[in-house]
Formats: sequence, C-alpha cells, structure tokens
Amino acid sequence: MADNRPIGVFDSGIGGLTVLREIIARIPSESTVYFGDDGRAPYGSKSHDTIVEYSLQDMMFLESKDVKMIVIACNTASTHAYEVLKKHSKVPVVEVVYPGAKAAVKATRNGRVGIIATNATVSSGLYEKAVKEEGKNIRDLKIIQQACPLFVSLAEEGWWNDDIAHLTAERYLAPVKEFGVDTLVLACTHYPLLARTIGDVMGDGVTLINSGISVASVVEQYLKDNNLLSDGSSVTREFYTSDDAKRFENVAAPFLGRGLPNGTRKVTVDRFDVSEYMR
Ligand code: DGL
Repeated sequence: MADNRPIGVFDSGIGGLTVLREIIARIPSESTVYFGDDGRAPYGSKSHDTIVEYSLQDMMFLESKDVKMIVIACNTASTHAYEVLKKHSKVPVVEVVYPGAKAAVKATRNGRVGIIATNATVSSGLYEKAVKEEGKNIRDLKIIQQACPLFVSLAEEGWWNDDIAHLTAERYLAPVKEFGVDTLVLACTHYPLLARTIGDVMGDGVTLINSGISVASVVEQYLKDNNLLSDGSSVTREFYTSDDAKRFENVAAPFLGRGLPNGTRKVTVDRFDVSEYMR
C-alpha cells in the first residue's frame, strides 16, 4: 500500500532547500513539508544544548504535520542532534553527514579532502570522523577542516555570487587550497548556494560535494525498502518559516525554480516542550 504522507525536511533556514531541491528532483511524486528556522538561525554558532533543543522542536513541529520521515537537512543539527532525534522521533530520521562523507571519499583521487562547515560542525569533529571511517581504505587520507561562518549570512542574504562573497571565499579558502585538496565537501547545506563562487575560488580540478544529491538517494532507497513510497496521486509542497514569510519566499522560489503555490506560513516552534527529551 502507498504511503502518501509527506516527507518532513528542516534546517536552521534556507540552506536545507539545497537538499529539498534534490529530493524533489529525484522523487517528485513525494509530498514535502519544509521548515526553515530562520528566526533562530544561525545554528552554527550556538552551543550543543541549544542546537539539540532547537532540533527537537523542529522535529516535533514536523511530526505535528503528520510526516512519514524527517530529513535533518542541516549538518550542524545532524552532527549535534541526530542521535537524540533518532531516539525520540516517531518516524525514521535521515541525516546528511554520512551521505556527504561517502560521496567525498568516492570522489577523491589524491586522498586530500577539505571539509568546510559551521563552527559547531567543525568543533564536533564528527564530519572528519565520518570521512575517516568511510575512507578507511584510502592510504594516506589527509583532511583539512575550515569553518566559514559568514557563508551562512551571505547565503541567507542572497549574496551568492557577488564581490563580497568572492572576497570572503578567498579568505576562508586560502588554507584549504594551500593544502592541495582535490575534493571539497560543502558540509553546511547553505554552502551549495555559493557553489559558483566557491568553485571559482578553488579552481578547476577540485570537486565540490553537495551532500543533498546523496541524501536524496538515501531517502528514496529507504522509502523503497520500507514500502513507504507514495503513489503520487496528490503531491503537495508546504513551506514554513519561523521568520518573515515573504523574505523566505523571495529566496526560496527562484532557487527552487517554481512559485510556492500555497505560500509560506510563519510559525513558532518554541512552544514545543522538549525538556523531557533533554534529560
Ligand atoms: N545549514 C546549516 C548546516 O548545514 C547550518 C547553518 C547555520 O545555521 O549556521 O550546517
């Protein structure tokens, strides 16, 4: 029997749209509910406990929309809160770190991999661990991590390909280039929005990894294996933000290449009491 409930996707803001876009491209017959916590972004500069608390509230909001699966379309939330969400969610939870790490290991030829991410993801050390685990058969695997916190603000502002983005990227990426990476993981879902700028600065010969593509295939496989695919008879796309709905739409609609027919609704999720899950 088909399961026509939507897939829930959340991020601290608009970054998770880079994952949503890949999910829609791969399995267009699935309905989706997207929540961007723009009002409380960025997550990448918050403490572990705050990231966990916010992510649990995001999860509860999506559960209130009767989703059949939750995709944590945020590396910061995936590194800090995946285990807690997996434990408490009523539905299966998919994270973004391991699919990205797997794709990076597959892509590298010289064994030098760069990971660019938020401060919270870098300091968790979990992305590096994931790449090491996935690449355990690569002799002499060398990894460099670099936090690029301003990329999130540039992405949220819509300044993806201008001079300011370029200068910022040059400064952040200088040590990564110097390290000689041939593969660079965009380990924050906001960063693919700046892919053109990042690609220009890194130059030809460096493969950029957008984990959204791998995540979409993990989602599809899971739905298939567990008989959760929809029959595509009534596909819906819902969008929610905790900040200004118009602002969200102004960025989301052109990026997704479509209008958002049902609009975007503003919601607050801090009403969800997650204290019992935080103990
Ligand atoms: N998009 C998020 C990530 O993948 C976090 C950005 C932020 O809120 O700092 O890490």
